[in-house]
Amino acid sequence: MASKSRILPPGPRPLPVLGNILGIKLAEPWVTYMEWAQVHGNIIYSRLLNQEIIILNSEKLARDLLEQRSYNYSDRPQYPTIDLFGMTFHSALLAYGSTWRLHRRLLHQAFRTEAALKYRPIQLRRVHQFLLNLLEAPKEYVDHMNTLSTSIIMEVIYGYNPAPRHDPLVTVVERASATLTREHTPERTAVIGALPFLLHIPPWFPGAAFKRSALECQKLTVEMIEAPFEYTKQNISAGIAMPCMLSDLLGRMKEEDPSYELAIKNSSATAFSGRLSGSSSVLMVFMLVMLQNPDVQRKAQLEIDAVVGQGRLPDFSDRTSLPYVEAVFRETLRWHPVVPLGIPHAATNDDIFEGHFIPKGYSLKANRAMAHNDDKYPEPYKFKPERFFALDGKLNDDTVGLVFGFGRRICVGRHIADATVWAAMVSILTVFNITKAKDDLGNDIEVTPKWTNGVTM
Ligand code: HEM
Repeated sequence: MASKSRILPPGPRPLPVLGNILGIKLAEPWVTYMEWAQVHGNIIYSRLLNQEIIILNSEKLARDLLEQRSYNYSDRPQYPTIDLFGMTFHSALLAYGSTWRLHRRLLHQAFRTEAALKYRPIQLRRVHQFLLNLLEAPKEYVDHMNTLSTSIIMEVIYGYNPAPRHDPLVTVVERASATLTREHTPERTAVIGALPFLLHIPPWFPGAAFKRSALECQKLTVEMIEAPFEYTKQNISAGIAMPCMLSDLLGRMKEEDPSYELAIKNSSATAFSGRLSGSSSVLMVFMLVMLQNPDVQRKAQLEIDAVVGQGRLPDFSDRTSLPYVEAVFRETLRWHPVVPLGIPHAATNDDIFEGHFIPKGYSLKANRAMAHNDDKYPEPYKFKPERFFALDGKLNDDTVGLVFGFGRRICVGRHIADATVWAAMVSILTVFNITKAKDDLGNDIEVTPKWTNGVTM
């Protein structure tokens, strides 16, 4: 039971109704949260309209609460926008309970460390196709990265072998996740949460553009969930399904069980909504840092030449022999975490932590700016793969796991994501140079990085 004598963590003084929303850089809230940490410390209370938030700015705090006390911090806040945008199917947004547990078990079976090993041939084949796509249409590199992560998941889950480019099913998931990433932003969630009457205004009403986007999202997500599922079910009936997560799970169903089948369908679609899950975003960050750091790029390429030699592409058996590439991989994850505020956890019950009161239902955001903590990562905004080497010249044991979250809600796809991203990076470095494009006079065209907002950047 909340009591006034219990003291919330410190934080900026909230205004009536608005809370702290005016004081936040909405495009980069994690930067504001780090600034607040200088004044208030690493655990901060803040309010965005009527959303109560506890921000965790240190890895230790995140581990103490989200891991050590995971029994109390494994729920998710339930925003009205989840329903509005057709996202109730999504495993990552489910409340902590029996449906989430079933989804998690199904996804864990498919993506746990040992299971993920058997997808490596698919990953390499898809990465090689990705290299060809880059060669044929380099300007469409963003599409190729999205296609790469989506097509691996589609083959693993649905046994569906998408066309190398512009596949109709891949296009559906890409449109759905692009619309979601653009429209389902944290600010919109806060505003609609505080002003729930907005949920009831008709889509044609002036200023209700978000309602039209939400309807479009709902339509796209239904298609994204149903179309590949039906494809695999029909193939199973016809006896021509490729081995995949879905054929395996449906095959194990002894008798019709609609709620189990729904969980299989929805958790599959969760994994399939690849763009939300970040692999392609990490690859975009990688392209940027290679462009900005040609010396690092060259050094990684020299290592690959020395270890892999000419005439073949690297594969997973080369990974431990390529420590500098490994350090580039880790530094890419750290330098710009693509899920900057993770997915918020929520407190199941009231709790007291180091004298701070954390009430039931409050959201906890693990600010990935902790990857820029200058005690652990000196000169945190510089791209320095060297930071991952110990004094003896060997790689240290910091694999930057924090970018995949904490506790019972830690990213279930982290092993497959790690392998896809590594394979794509090392393969790009083997066959391409990443350089600035030239204008008509042969001058470099300068690149100004710009970031999208949303759960995944
Ligand atoms: C480099 C790519 C990826 C990054 C950086 C990433 C990051 C994250 C983060 C930060 C979370 C929140 C963890 C927490 O609440 O503490 C998460 C959750 C999740 N991720 Fe990933 N992810 C990636 C790729 C993937 C892939 C490929 C899949 C699909 C197979 C996936 C499936 C999920 C699911 C289902 C959850 C929700 C888990 C739950 O709520 O129980 N992720 N991810």
